[in-house]
This record gives sequence, structure tokens and C-alpha cells, in this order.
Amino acid sequence: MTTVDSARTEAPALYDPATYATGVPHDYYRWLRDNEPVAHLDHPTYPNGYWVVTRHADVQQVSRDSTTFRNAPDPFVDDGVMANDGSAGTSELLISKDAPEHIKLRKLINKGFTPRRVAELSDRLRARTDAIIDGLADRDSADLVHDLALWLPLHVIADMVGVPEEDRAQVFEWTEKTFGFDPDVTPEERGQATMDMFMYADAMCAERENTPRDDLMSVLLHAEVDGEQLTRFQIEVFFMLLQNAGSETTRNLITTGTLALLQHPEQMAIVSGDLDTLPGAIEELLRFTTPVIHFTRTANVDTEIGGQRIGAGERVLMVYASANRDERAFVEPDQLDVLRSPNDHVAFGAGGPHFCLGANLARLEGRIMFEQILTRFEGLRVDGDPTEFPRVHSNLIDGFAELPIAWDRIRPAR
Ligand code: HEM
Repeated sequence: MTTVDSARTEAPALYDPATYATGVPHDYYRWLRDNEPVAHLDHPTYPNGYWVVTRHADVQQVSRDSTTFRNAPDPFVDDGVMANDGSAGTSELLISKDAPEHIKLRKLINKGFTPRRVAELSDRLRARTDAIIDGLADRDSADLVHDLALWLPLHVIADMVGVPEEDRAQVFEWTEKTFGFDPDVTPEERGQATMDMFMYADAMCAERENTPRDDLMSVLLHAEVDGEQLTRFQIEVFFMLLQNAGSETTRNLITTGTLALLQHPEQMAIVSGDLDTLPGAIEELLRFTTPVIHFTRTANVDTEIGGQRIGAGERVLMVYASANRDERAFVEPDQLDVLRSPNDHVAFGAGGPHFCLGANLARLEGRIMFEQILTRFEGLRVDGDPTEFPRVHSNLIDGFAELPIAWDRIRPAR
């Protein structure tokens, strides 16, 4: 039996990327939800430690009260090695801002992110997905991550932003180096790739300043709210955030989501048998896989969560991966149930002003990709033991670095 003391001494460090090498620690989360739902834990670089919030209702409370719980200087968890105090450039990101600046920035950025612009991408998305799968037609095995899942989100962002085809290989290489969580990439290489990508975004802005095109960069350069515009620097920073927020996350929904379906053939059969169930199934895959593990907030004033006093200036970790398995919010939360309804998951955030800006785009990408995976691959299977597949080295994103798959035949696109 797990006692309070043994659970605490054997507890995995939630800030350490190594903790997630075998997936998120669901047993520990469950223990915290039941015994210390608002737990105070040590941290190597936060002198006063940090608070870890694991229940669904508490995560919602923190996420929605943006007056008390602030995103600045940044909402990321320091991994204990490199101080993530906002000095690494993260403090300029949209996700690191609070009202009133956040409201103004988000209003401006929303101009380029309307449901109409997202819907317009649909045809291009379908064609791109067909092409990715057609490219595998003469094979019978592949790596789901590198041969399939990572391409769609990368191209979608490139399509939106306006990166020409001939520059994409280079931009994707920079993106992988900057945000790819590859432990073999040196800090110097990462720094250089970040700088190169930033300069590239600057050149894109320069080209569009006087001659706008039909792309997000041009919309952002010319968007105006209450007489104010985004600066070129703000647009370039947003370009970087978009590469990261839009590609790593959706890729893992596709890979871990496909694995979850293959591991639950009866659930997969429900969706394959009736593709109208796909939108609901995607919500369930988002809940079940939770690609973004957690974010933090910093208390602005003395306050409390679930009766626990929290001091001004203290960090609070909202664990989405735990909230999405909270027995108080979901019936049989560890079961994948593609017909689950209602499904108040927090994979895109738990409400509040920072709720994922790309949620509808991610849903659309998921819908098109899963539809193709379910209808075009015959005899699709995992090629090996998933517990041995390497995962991304990150304390923010959960997913696989490689996921070998095999199949009997690929059907032509309809
Ligand atoms: C499965 C895919 C995705 C997941 C699980 C995901 C998850 C999240 C989460 C948890 C947040 C923080 C919410 C909060 O703090 O309340 C967030 C914010 C954000 N996401 Fe996503 N995301 C996904 C896809 C995307 C895509 C495709 C884009 C863009 C094309 C995107 C752009 C953003 C941006 C810009 C923010 C910051 C919003 C702000 O601070 O106001 N995300 N996302």
C-alpha cells in the first residue's frame, strides 16, 4: 500500500523531462488527486517550491481566474537545469502575457485566425494528407512520427503563414532544431536555428509590408484594433510560437491517438464503422492522450485553492493530464470511450483568456488525418512494443519520438 511518506519520497519530479521518458505518471497523479490535490513540492530553482494542482475543478478554477493567477513572466515549468525565468525569450510570447496587453494582442492575432480562414484551409489539408499517405503506397511499414504525423501540422502552419514551398525544408529543419526536444541538438545549434528562423520571419514581414498577400503574415502586419497595430517584432515572435504550438502538439494527437485506437480495437471499430462518430472520438483522444501535459500560473495576491492557502508570487502547476483522468469529472476515466458524452476535457486548456487559439484548426487536422488513417490503411498495426518506443524529451509535451507501424495495403484516396 502506498503511504503518504513513501508516495512523497518515491514521487517522480514533475519538472524533470526524464520523468516522462515512459509516459506521464498516471499512478502518482491519482495518488495526488486522492491525497494531496493541492500539493506543495520542492523545485531545484524555485526557492519556495511550487504548488501542483491535479483535480479537474481546481485546474479550471486557476485557469479561469486570470486576475489572481497570472501567466507572466512565463507559464512554462523550469526543468531544473536552465533557469526559465523569462529571460530565455519566452516572456515575449503571447502565452506569457497578461491583460491588458494579452487582450489587445489576442484581438489583433484573432483577425488572422477567424473560423472562415481555418475552414478555407480544409481542401488544401485534405490534398496534403492524401499526398503524405500516397507517398507511402509502395511500402508496408514506416515511422508514424517522421513519415506521417509531423508533416501535416508543419505544412498547415506554413500554408497559413505563407511560407513558399521551396523554403519549407529549411523552415521545418529550423523548427525541429528549435522545438524538436531532441537531446542530440546542442544549445548552440538550437540558438542558431532560432536566430535563423527569426531572421527569416523578418524577411517575410519586409516583403509583405508594402505588398500584402493572402496569408496570415500579411493579415497580422495590417491588422488594426482601436488604432493600434502589431509591431514587426511581435509578429516575428508570434511566428515562432505558432511553429511550436501548432506542430508539436497536433503531431502527438495523431501519433498517440492512433496508438490508442490500435490498442483498443473495439473502439477503433466503432469509429471506422461510422465516421460521423469521429468528431466526438477526437475529443476523447484529446482527453485520453493530453498532448500538453501542464502549464503554470503565478499567484498575483494571497489566495486559496481547494481550501489550501497560496501566497502571492508562488507558482502553481495545472496538470491537464491529471485533470483529464479525474474520477470526479469523468466516469471510468482510464477507459478510452470514443462515444463519451459529455466530455469536458481540458486538453486545450481549462478555460480562460489563453484557451488554445488553434483548437479548431487542430480538430480539423485531426479529423482529416484520422479519417484517412482509418479508411486507407488495411491491416494497420504497431510494429513492436510501444513501452520500448522512445518518447520526446520534454516536460511540456507528451508523445513519441518514434512509433513504428506496419500495414498490409494502402487503398487509393477516394
Ligand atoms: C492537439 C493540438 C493542440 C493542443 C493539445 C493544444 C493545447 C494548448 C494548450 C493547453 C494551451 C494553453 C491554454 C491555456 O493556457 O489556457 C494552448 C495555447 C495556445 N495554442 Fe494550442 N494546442 C494544440 C494545437 C494548436 C495549434 C494547431 C495552434 C496554432 C495553429 C495552436 C496555437 C496556440 C496558441 C497561439 C496558444 C496561446 C494562446 C494564448 O496565450 O492566448 N495550438 N494550446
